[in-house]
Amino acid sequence: MSVYIPDKDRYNGVMKYRRCGKSGIVLPEISLGLWHNFGENAGFATCREMIHFAFDNGITHFDLANNYGPSPGAAEEMFGRILKDSVLLPREEILITTKAGHDMWSGPYGTGSSRKMLMTSIDQSLKRMNQEYVDIFYSHRYDGVTPVEETMQALVDIVKSGKALYIGISKYPLEEARIAYDYLKAHDVPCLVYQGRYNMFSREPEDGIIEQASENGSGFVAFSPLAQGLLSDRYLHGIPADSRISKPDGFLKKEQLTDQVIDQIRSLTAVAQKRGQTLAEMALAWVLRDSKVTSVIIGASSIAQLKANLKGAEKLSFGKEELMIIDDIVKPVRPEIK
Ligand SMILES: NC(=O)c1ccc[n+]([C@@H]2O[C@H](COP(=O)([O-])OP(=O)(O)OC[C@H]3O[C@@H](n4cnc5c(N)ncnc54)[C@H](OP(=O)(O)O)[C@@H]3O)[C@@H](O)[C@H]2O)c1
Repeated sequence: MSVYIPDKDRYNGVMKYRRCGKSGIVLPEISLGLWHNFGENAGFATCREMIHFAFDNGITHFDLANNYGPSPGAAEEMFGRILKDSVLLPREEILITTKAGHDMWSGPYGTGSSRKMLMTSIDQSLKRMNQEYVDIFYSHRYDGVTPVEETMQALVDIVKSGKALYIGISKYPLEEARIAYDYLKAHDVPCLVYQGRYNMFSREPEDGIIEQASENGSGFVAFSPLAQGLLSDRYLHGIPADSRISKPDGFLKKEQLTDQVIDQIRSLTAVAQKRGQTLAEMALAWVLRDSKVTSVIIGASSIAQLKANLKGAEKLSFGKEELMIIDDIVKPVRPEIK
């Protein structure tokens, strides 16, 4: 076992923290997600190094879900092993998030947002991570069938049982989110945070979701701020062999990298260069420019990417003209990015 000694100066670094809605909790402007790159194909030492590097640079919020892998559950197991192996990575200094709602185990109860699914899943997640509680437990999605009240009551009970400190909702449509906020408020477990896909290509949260979260005293965290890597220089010169598109389990597909998207990436890169930024930095800054966004949850396959992305929390102001130019570039076709 390696003894990990955290760098106590890290909070004096560049990381800034934003209050999550009207709660007492702050999140780092940049959080790290373990959707890809922390599964059973990833090396333990590399993953541990990335988590330690993130923590040393003020990233105190780690976002997981029951199904992150491959295979489902592997990322939680990896994170649990890292925490166990890092005896001085203080549990009280980090926020651990997990979720349930997507396909997890076989049979009719291993997917969706039923009480059965959520109650079983939180226990499995805690076991995999070797934790007594998570900081935030999310309903990963509205499944289109389960009454929102059933899902929310399960979340309330999970908090009341001490297995999670706060709860959140992810990808809920406006109307279902409204029912969720109201139900949770009425049951004294207000929704801490809404998690939605938000980047220069994917703009759905602008149609009321961010505003609604804010009106309900909830934070908003943006996932896939780099559109899974498209909003960077990753695919400017072809498809690298070690990239998400090349990996069989990656959620970004070759078909999404059309000529038009490559043109858009090139044009956005030119705007970023004028601002003295890389495209990845500008993409993160663009999301963080809105003070209602509490944090961006990035993914990374290397320490170099993590390091580069920390700069995304700089230069957050955009001129009106810059924003219009960006909108004009992405408007004609916004790629369908999952
Ligand atoms: N609630 C939900 O339903 C939901 C859904 C999706 C994601 N999430 C959360 O959001 C997190 C982030 O999602 P994401 O991984 O799609 O985020 P992202 O930041 O948009 O994409 C991350 C990928 O972009 C590439 N990349 C990162 N930094 C780069 C840089 N500086 N230069 C070039 N390429 C760079 C890497 O791809 P390569 O691997 O090719 O190097 C990396 O794996 C997930 O881990 C998860 O926690 C939540």
